[in-house]
Amino acid sequence: MMILLLFYLTAAISQFSCSGIPSSVEDYFWRDYTGIVPKDALACGTDSNGNPTYIAQISVPSPRDPTRSTVDVLPAILEAGAITVYAPYNVDVVYRDASNSSVKVLCVYSSSYYKWHSPKTLLPSFHKYVIVGYESSSPLYLGRAEVNNATVTGKIYANDREAGLIVAYDAGQIYPHSYTILTYYR
Ligand SMILES: *[C@@H]1O[C@H](CO)[C@@H](O)[C@H](O)[C@H]1NC(C)=O
Ligand SMILES: *[C@@H]1O[C@H](CO)[C@@H](O)[C@H](O)[C@H]1NC(C)=O
Repeated sequence: MMILLLFYLTAAISQFSCSGIPSSVEDYFWRDYTGIVPKDALACGTDSNGNPTYIAQISVPSPRDPTRSTVDVLPAILEAGAITVYAPYNVDVVYRDASNSSVKVLCVYSSSYYKWHSPKTLLPSFHKYVIVGYESSSPLYLGRAEVNNATVTGKIYANDREAGLIVAYDAGQIYPHSYTILTYYR
């Protein structure tokens, strides 16, 4: 399954880069998050009490770059109304506070365009993976899985060797095997 996903993701990425200039502007966008969840934020998961969670975006200096001038942009978990968001990163969890750092939240014009797609099947025509960040210059996609009554969300990291879902959970990282990926179509 890892191999399949890798194949599909690689196909999606090369389609993107071969087409040159994209033919349309993406439907999704990132608003500054200040503590109030915007009405058009896309609810992507739930906590164990069934409350919705949203996708934030934060920047962290890359520990792989000794000059600390390279930045990774990560999807983070935003629990409804929380000021602190968190993301799996570098075999750990990083936290950012919306009161003293840049925290964005994923918003969409039309939520009906968005579907969670199983990596076991080919992506249908006109569907694209939503890019939610970049790590080591590779795009990050958004995945979700069911864990202990919660729908957890995390990043899908794919390069030419591996692909998988990484979720921040209980202040550590987990790697659910069965997951779906956020896509949209127009
Ligand atoms: C940002 O705010 C949080 C919560 O108030 C605090 O714990 C953290 O140390 C602050 N970070 C910086 C870099 O000031
Ligand atoms: C999941 O929900 C069921 C029913 O509400 C409850 O009995 C169970 O303890 C919950 N499990 C966890 C891990 O929270």
